[in-house]
Amino acid sequence: MEVVIAPGSELGRLAASAIEQLVRSQPDAVLGLATGSSPLAVYDELARRHTERGLSFARTRAFMLDEYVGLAADHPERYRNVIEKDLVSRVDFAPGAVRGPDGLADDLVAACADYEDAIAAVGGVDLQILGIGTDGHVAFNEPGSSLASRTRIKTLTRQTREDNARFFGGDVDQVPQHVLTQGLATIMSARHLVLVATGKGKAEAVHQLVEGPVSAMWPATVLQHHPHVTVLVDDAAASRL
Ligand code: GLP
Repeated sequence: MEVVIAPGSELGRLAASAIEQLVRSQPDAVLGLATGSSPLAVYDELARRHTERGLSFARTRAFMLDEYVGLAADHPERYRNVIEKDLVSRVDFAPGAVRGPDGLADDLVAACADYEDAIAAVGGVDLQILGIGTDGHVAFNEPGSSLASRTRIKTLTRQTREDNARFFGGDVDQVPQHVLTQGLATIMSARHLVLVATGKGKAEAVHQLVEGPVSAMWPATVLQHHPHVTVLVDDAAASRL
């Protein structure tokens, strides 16, 4: 695990450079995309490099980590719409090249299995962008998640719903209770994991991620078993290391 402590303004550039290097050498690479505020600087930088340097994603495919269950197709906080706004609409992915778990499927269990099959069918994810929750969750793998989990339905903790209420007008009751999420083993199958964390609120989670014992109670600690992980943190997120 490589830990890089750098100013917040630099973190987005570092992650974008890893993606640019991959996509330029392997235009049909498969990216893993995260939502949340942590990757926004990365997506801003990718959009800038697309516009100013011609970085193209025309042959690149991407898979999202997770999705809320039951949010209407046009709900602004549906992760499929969030990633459209934050990245997809700003670069040149081909139509249909970016996929997410289908939180509106009639059969959610089948939708999870289909999603695993779709990732496997393209040979897996080359580079996965990750954030981390204050309780150490990655994607929506909440504390207690099996380290061997695959894409499945999860119930959000109160903590995560409170953390995400800011995206729902501050009203925790508007945050869905259920989600579909890639499992920890799904995420661990990606060839390179790039995790971005900023701010004091993430300091304990980053401490556990880097220095804690591997435990389902801090799901991100499973990354310690991955052969190629880059952890990009600012001073505040690194303050407990
Ligand atoms: C959300 C997402 C995660 C994200 C995390 C942190 O619940 N499902 O993928 O990494 O919480 O979010 P943020 O980056 O906004 O702090």
